[in-house]
Amino acid sequence: MTEQHEPAVGRPPDFPVSGCAVVVGGSGGIGRAIAVQLAERGCNIALTYFKGSARADETASLVRSAGQEVHVGQVDLREEAEVGKFVDEAAEHFDGVHTAIYAAGPYIPMRFIGQQPAAAFREVMEHDAFGCYHLMRAALPHLRKSKGSFTAIVTPAIRRYAVRDILSAAPKAAIEQLVKGLAAEEGRFGVRANAVGVGVITDGLYHALVESGDFDQRFLDASRQAMALRRLGTADEVAEGVVFLASARARWITGQTLMVDGGYAL
Ligand SMILES: NC(=O)c1ccc[n+]([C@@H]2O[C@H](COP(=O)([O-])OP(=O)(O)OC[C@H]3O[C@@H](n4cnc5c(N)ncnc54)[C@H](OP(=O)(O)O)[C@@H]3O)[C@@H](O)[C@H]2O)c1
Repeated sequence: MTEQHEPAVGRPPDFPVSGCAVVVGGSGGIGRAIAVQLAERGCNIALTYFKGSARADETASLVRSAGQEVHVGQVDLREEAEVGKFVDEAAEHFDGVHTAIYAAGPYIPMRFIGQQPAAAFREVMEHDAFGCYHLMRAALPHLRKSKGSFTAIVTPAIRRYAVRDILSAAPKAAIEQLVKGLAAEEGRFGVRANAVGVGVITDGLYHALVESGDFDQRFLDASRQAMALRRLGTADEVAEGVVFLASARARWITGQTLMVDGGYAL
């Protein structure tokens, strides 16, 4: 651990020195910011990508620049066996997993429910809700050993619905329930689970949504107006919330969803 992260006397360190943090979606905008901030706080990182190997390599080199070791793997989160293999390998490589972060999710076209074909709904549930479920199950035996934590990215649309956002809100509502379930069932083994609801930020999926026209000027202006703080956020600001909840600073917090959304879901 670096000097600036030495805990105050009597307080446990934010993260254990041994073991690693698994960040799925490490090639994405939010996953990258989380991986880098965890590395800055002394964690070794095991990160996954799906199709973006070059983006995963960029994240890996940022983790190394922060002075930590990194293990990178290609994983399709829809495949339970692939997820299990990656997490077990990461645990073996780093001698344990103390943190698991679900920061993945597919591109989601924004349409009204009446316009979304069932196939699109099925696909997003497989990538996103099942992806998180697979990670949770794969990480659990390791988190029990380390008394570690699980943190998942969700959306404020599960509190304040935004029209045309069903492909985000529906899987994330399932993910929030998985997180609550894990927290309730595994707390007795010292495992915590929380979620972070991400508002509209100018990183990650934002770029594809601007390019597709789903995030046009009208949408972005309306989003700002709907936020108490009247501005869009950044992946770095989201990562601050995730890293806090994952760390021992949040050691008596479990089963919660923290909205990092500029005050959208109020
Ligand atoms: N950005 C926002 O404004 C915002 C707001 C609310 C919620 N969120 C949620 O936050 C999460 C991360 O979003 P982001 O903005 O960081 O998006 P992003 O930059 O597009 O990253 C998405 C990540 O998910 C991975 N992924 C997608 N499908 C996968 C699969 N089947 N198996 C394994 N990995 C898969 C991608 O891998 P590859 O790139 O390697 O293919 C990438 O690492 C998503 O769940 C998103 O819905 C984002």
